[in-house]
Amino acid sequence: MSDVVHDSVKSSLAQLFDRSAPTYEKVGVDHFADLGRRLVDHAGIAAGERVLDVGCGTGAVLVPAARATGPRGEVIGVDLSAGMAARAEEEIVRHGLPQARVVVGDAETLAADGIPADPGSYDAVLAGICLFFYPRPEEAMARYRRLLKPDGRFALSWWGRPDPRWDAVFTASAPFGRGPSSHALPGDSPFRSVEALHAALLTAGFDDVDTVEEDCVTRFDSDEQWWQWVWSTAGRQFWESVPEELRPDAVAAVNAELARLKAADGSLSSTSKVRFTLARRVS
Ligand SMILES: C[S@@+](CC[C@H](N)C(=O)[O-])C[C@H]1O[C@@H](n2cnc3c(N)ncnc32)[C@H](O)[C@@H]1O
Repeated sequence: MSDVVHDSVKSSLAQLFDRSAPTYEKVGVDHFADLGRRLVDHAGIAAGERVLDVGCGTGAVLVPAARATGPRGEVIGVDLSAGMAARAEEEIVRHGLPQARVVVGDAETLAADGIPADPGSYDAVLAGICLFFYPRPEEAMARYRRLLKPDGRFALSWWGRPDPRWDAVFTASAPFGRGPSSHALPGDSPFRSVEALHAALLTAGFDDVDTVEEDCVTRFDSDEQWWQWVWSTAGRQFWESVPEELRPDAVAAVNAELARLKAADGSLSSTSKVRFTLARRVS
């Protein structure tokens, strides 16, 4: 893919997340905040450290990272989407974390003003559920390694297997829209397997690469809340592609599958796998 195509992919992504931003993590479902706290724990962020949070979104990783560094540390978040970045800024103020700040820009190239990018500038680079959106994740990995101090950590979270009980929901919606209705990756993505990601990180020059896989349990009070949640995430992209006149049938097909998944109290839950990968720059 050429640079022009990559720029257009990123511009569409920024617009997609701008549309999600008003409701992202605001529909009463604790999803990304939980994953963000876990990523910060896996990375072992300590008081006084300097941290770069790439693809910071509304601050799910940035806020716990800034709590962990404390006022003597510094956390810089970067996001393509001005809407997501504005929400992260609100969170910084709401939680009283002057050690954190946000830059709107491309975290893959780090070309934006306001992002310290000297070699050896950071103790840790964190990437919560975002690196698989990059057109050239391998280049970004090598770039992040250069930014780390010796013994610095690059920690990222990414998806493992989706909950197989939900396959029927995505199968029911697929004929109505364009593109994947669940997480899908190009065949050569380093995120196709743990082995492929480890190989990419080792090629980027990291040492001590390790991944742990954990459950990501997401609970919805009702199918209405699940719909609100889908529209608050990047998952809305599929539903935006469903032509207006087909939406009633598409929604009905999905609701029929949701009815099969509902517990007696009308709630729904999904247990996907989430992976936390830690890579160290030894020297
Ligand atoms: C699923 S959200 C995750 C946000 C946050 N890290 C969290 O854990 O909630 C993915 C974020 O990555 C951002 N993103 C994707 N590609 C990016 C890039 N090249 N540069 C900066 N941000 C990017 C999106 O704008 C979006 O806010």
